[in-house]
Amino acid sequence: MPSAILSSPPSIAMSTPVDLSHHLSTEARRRKPNPMKAIWKLTRGRPNMVSLANGDPHYSLYPIRKIEYEVASVKEEDPVGSWRQGLGSPSLTITSSTSKSCVVPLQAGLAYTHGAGLPEAQRVVTEITNFYHNAPDHVCTLTLGNSDGIAKIFRLLGEPGDTFLADEFAFSSVTNTPLAHGVSWAGIRMDEGGLIPSELERVLATWDPARGRRPHVLYLVPCGQNPTGSTLSLARRTAIYAIAQRFDLLIVEDDPYYFLQYDDAPGPRPTRPSASRARCSAWTPTAASSASTPSLRSSRPARASAGSPPRPLRRRAPRAHRRLHDAPARLRPDAPRRAPRPPGDRGGWGVRGFDRWVRSLGAEYRRRRAVFLAAFAREVAPGGWASAGPPEAGMFVWIRVHVARHPRFELFERCLDGGLVVMPASVFAVPEDPKWDSVEDPIEDRVNYVRATFAGTEEAMEQGLAILGRVLQEFFVPEEQ
Ligand SMILES: Cc1ncc(COP(=O)(O)O)c(C=O)c1O
Repeated sequence: MPSAILSSPPSIAMSTPVDLSHHLSTEARRRKPNPMKAIWKLTRGRPNMVSLANGDPHYSLYPIRKIEYEVASVKEEDPVGSWRQGLGSPSLTITSSTSKSCVVPLQAGLAYTHGAGLPEAQRVVTEITNFYHNAPDHVCTLTLGNSDGIAKIFRLLGEPGDTFLADEFAFSSVTNTPLAHGVSWAGIRMDEGGLIPSELERVLATWDPARGRRPHVLYLVPCGQNPTGSTLSLARRTAIYAIAQRFDLLIVEDDPYYFLQYDDAPGPRPTRPSASRARCSAWTPTAASSASTPSLRSSRPARASAGSPPRPLRRRAPRAHRRLHDAPARLRPDAPRRAPRPPGDRGGWGVRGFDRWVRSLGAEYRRRRAVFLAAFAREVAPGGWASAGPPEAGMFVWIRVHVARHPRFELFERCLDGGLVVMPASVFAVPEDPKWDSVEDPIEDRVNYVRATFAGTEEAMEQGLAILGRVLQEFFVPEEQ
């Protein structure tokens, strides 16, 4: 976790706006603003208007009168540690009710609102984003989570026939989404440091027009990449950004593990993304969700994410959000997000409390990572069949199985038979059209990895890695030998 984070919030740099509208898909261009919203805007700031305009159900007909959230207190030095102690640990209660005096009135939370999300929640998320990221000239839009936000970005940017770029191993539930709209992928070679900039450059510079127009979108997970656990160094980010500028490439950053960066990483670290990252990002769909994603995972529906698009994409984002997903957006996933409400509001964490929570959370994951690595060193490494390094961020360890071409799925099945499930690398191999697969350098030669997480319990890690060590031993040294 960056130690500089708690220094005073960075001032927000302004940049010269760049016209990015040529990146928009036909679908995004065709989307029209809702004329009723324009009329609704006219009434803003005029509280005494009598409205017969909208068909909004009156809140007295909602079948819910009150929702109470019991939220961790952030007064303690280690709030996550205290919270883990369970019932009786310090907490605060945030109430949503139809009473006008409460902090989160249900009549606002459950009513129609605009596509960017409940204005107060949007304000909180913006405040947090500004606190951590020196992002120039941006707005935040609430979504239902990273997958949701990114799926919408892909639709804003992708045409059928387009090819997007991503790490050659990427989080498949995200990379699968644009396939249905006729967008394909080209994977960029990676190493332990993540995407290799020279490989990105090579792919763009040698793009065969027979494959369609040159890619204009690069999807990246900069910290604790899923599945490989790699984190892009500042030098790589800078190099990728320069390539992106040269080839008019938009970078879509998916950064759920920003707050799970561990202090022991070598060399200069891009922990507080500088202006270079901010300018680099077409959209950073996580600033606040990344913080609370791991902590709020237990309450799955209570999710919201923030996307920060630059101009001129910003107006399209809420519009896409509203058009595509209006109903789920109104289930108000953002009410608990208001726990980290900025100082001045009643009862919440405040940004500094939020910061304390995510630091404490990072320390907890760091501890779990240590448990995982110790169990790995004890149970798996001595066999010599697999190795793994400590990830600098995130919650995944990319375990290399030491064999070039081996029946990986058979190993996976052996793990299953032994009572362990891990994710084989093949699940994350970016799905390329076989016609364009590199014959001399097939990804099949690099799928000798499995992804394992340290997000679970210590017991699961100890048991799971003992099984892995045993299965590997039996797999490579069958009993009869
Ligand atoms: C890189 C990455 N993107 C997106 C997601 C999904 O995020 P969400 O649950 O907010 O949709 C995950 C979750 O594991 C992830 O690792």
